[in-house]
Amino acid sequence: MLLLREHIMQPCKSPFCILYYAALLLVLSSVQFTCATVKPPSPFSRLCPRKITSESKWQTCAEQTLKTWNDGTAKVRSSNLAAMMETYAGIVDPNIVVRLEPVGTFVGLDMVAEYETIFASPTGPAMIIRPISYVLRRYVAHRPIAVATVDFLFSNMLNGNAANLTIEQWFRFNEYNRIASADFVLPRYTEFLQALQLDSMLSQDPSIPQSIVASVCNASAAFCSSPGLEHYADFASCAGFLSSIPFMNPLRTQANSVLCRLVHASLVAYAPQIHCSHIGPTGGGVCIDEPYSAYYTSSPFPPATFIS
Ligand SMILES: *[C@@H]1O[C@H](CO)[C@@H](O)[C@H](O)[C@H]1NC(C)=O
Ligand SMILES: *[C@@H]1O[C@H](CO)[C@@H](O)[C@H](O)[C@H]1NC(C)=O
Repeated sequence: MLLLREHIMQPCKSPFCILYYAALLLVLSSVQFTCATVKPPSPFSRLCPRKITSESKWQTCAEQTLKTWNDGTAKVRSSNLAAMMETYAGIVDPNIVVRLEPVGTFVGLDMVAEYETIFASPTGPAMIIRPISYVLRRYVAHRPIAVATVDFLFSNMLNGNAANLTIEQWFRFNEYNRIASADFVLPRYTEFLQALQLDSMLSQDPSIPQSIVASVCNASAAFCSSPGLEHYADFASCAGFLSSIPFMNPLRTQANSVLCRLVHASLVAYAPQIHCSHIGPTGGGVCIDEPYSAYYTSSPFPPATFIS
């Protein structure tokens, strides 16, 4: 500062000094230039970064978005989770709502990360089922909605069994061509769990549910014991509580069950302030038994009208 004042006070006498000032001016103006070129992130989708007026162009954009979404789910693994999240962040609204019936509802980008992490599990307990690939069965798009039916092939990591899970997917886009909400229905979910022989395995081999309970309790002890986070007093009280609730609810994943807490235990390392309560005794409003009617009062889509 002192240096600058001296420069300003002293009139330039030599050509050297003039050159010096010219250089100083150049440096200052380039700093300003750099500041001016830092643009805020575009609100538009990375896949369709412009305002689109033609319906057919919009349909192409929607198709690419759905393909990217489903390819991401099929390929997500712990090793590429960060890259996948980057991809999702570029195509969804930050306040996206994803309802996956009867698995649960995921609100915001963090929760979409959770939905994907179910299958990737970077730090938490190894997950039981993993998506392998999918086949597109039906697809149609009409702005701002795109609908697809996909058959996702899943593998049961414990016994190697594979089974297809049909997902009816409805996507609603915002004005920036990003996915604002997604409403998915799994019409064959209960039979799918039977086909993977998940429930029979768990009842035949008590060591599997025991080790799952231990994983959840270990995750709670490791990541949720800071002040202000919901957690269990110790391993014994955690294991005791988890033995007192159903292991799984064959009708729903988001329920007051051990399986729901296993899903969320995958995420406590990533965002303890959000997820510790989900694996805790209260279920944090997520691993809870919702009333039947809740589905009808919390739709991610606004009511529609007929087109003509
Ligand atoms: C899954 O569905 C595909 C067709 O979409 C079929 O070819 C495949 O055999 C099915 N796999 C199983 C394990 O049922
Ligand atoms: C839980 O932690 C204990 C103590 O560190 C360890 O012995 C046990 O293997 C862990 N269990 C699981 C399933 O992670």
